[in-house]
Amino acid sequence: MKIPFLSLFSGNGTRIHRECEDLLNVGEEDSVFRETIRSLRSKLEYKADMAGWKVLGITSSIAGEGKTLACVKIAVSMASTKRKRVLLVDADVRKGSLSRGMGIPIHPGLTEFLLGPATLESLIRQTAVQDLSIISAGRSISAPADVLSGDRFRAFVIEARKEYDVVLMDCPPVLPVADAMSIREVVDGFIFIYRAGFTPLNMFQQATEEIGEKKILGVVLNGVEPKSDRYYGRYYGSYYTSPKSKDHQG
Ligand SMILES: Nc1ncnc2c1ncn2[C@@H]1O[C@H](COP(=O)(O)OP(=O)(O)O)[C@@H](O)[C@H]1O
Ligand SMILES: [Mg+2]
Repeated sequence: MKIPFLSLFSGNGTRIHRECEDLLNVGEEDSVFRETIRSLRSKLEYKADMAGWKVLGITSSIAGEGKTLACVKIAVSMASTKRKRVLLVDADVRKGSLSRGMGIPIHPGLTEFLLGPATLESLIRQTAVQDLSIISAGRSISAPADVLSGDRFRAFVIEARKEYDVVLMDCPPVLPVADAMSIREVVDGFIFIYRAGFTPLNMFQQATEEIGEKKILGVVLNGVEPKSDRYYGRYYGSYYTSPKSKDHQG
């Protein structure tokens, strides 16, 4: 498999912690990290344009690799150029860390659209960043993978594609649950996050093989030290009330 390398995040990028409600307004990144994000953004814009992709998921092999962080940073950076209207979607509906981390209510959100009858427009929230809107995760539902592979999710993406220049989805990780494989059917492709020194390489290989190289725009290597992660269940984190169904793989 050949997956393009996109960027390397340094470990001291930010001091955000899961508990803080300041994912958006972090003023604490150092200049190296800011520059990293800027160059990642222009690389992504170029590659996405070349591929004709505008609906992008952000995923990884397991929980805690930096998906939510990367997703917000990329979205803010894209919107800040004022050339693009960006929609950020919390598609990790079991966790809703994006909504939480940005201090916005978790519902109504994506699942209200998926279960109907909410309209996309009624779910949009404007953020403090001009040209950056967000849709929360929504109420928790019992079988996200099934709902995320249904027609309503397709309809959601078709509509979002019409209204926005870029749609970025904070997705669940690939290995613990089937959700990301359901999302795979509907997005143009993924940005894959790999947290070096935290995720075993064989898990990364397995996850990228499941997604397939054709659907991966590239990999962001997150080099952050895994010190502060004692709260995370290693590997499968706290997703997994139900075993991963194999039905949605392919
Ligand atoms: N490059 C980084 N610098 C500093 N902290 C990071 C970095 N990447 C991730 N983290 C921290 O690690 C934790 C997990 O990141 P998160 O984005 O929530 O992962 P995921 O969405 O993949 O589960 C968060 O507390 C986050 O702030
Ligand atoms: Mg997350």
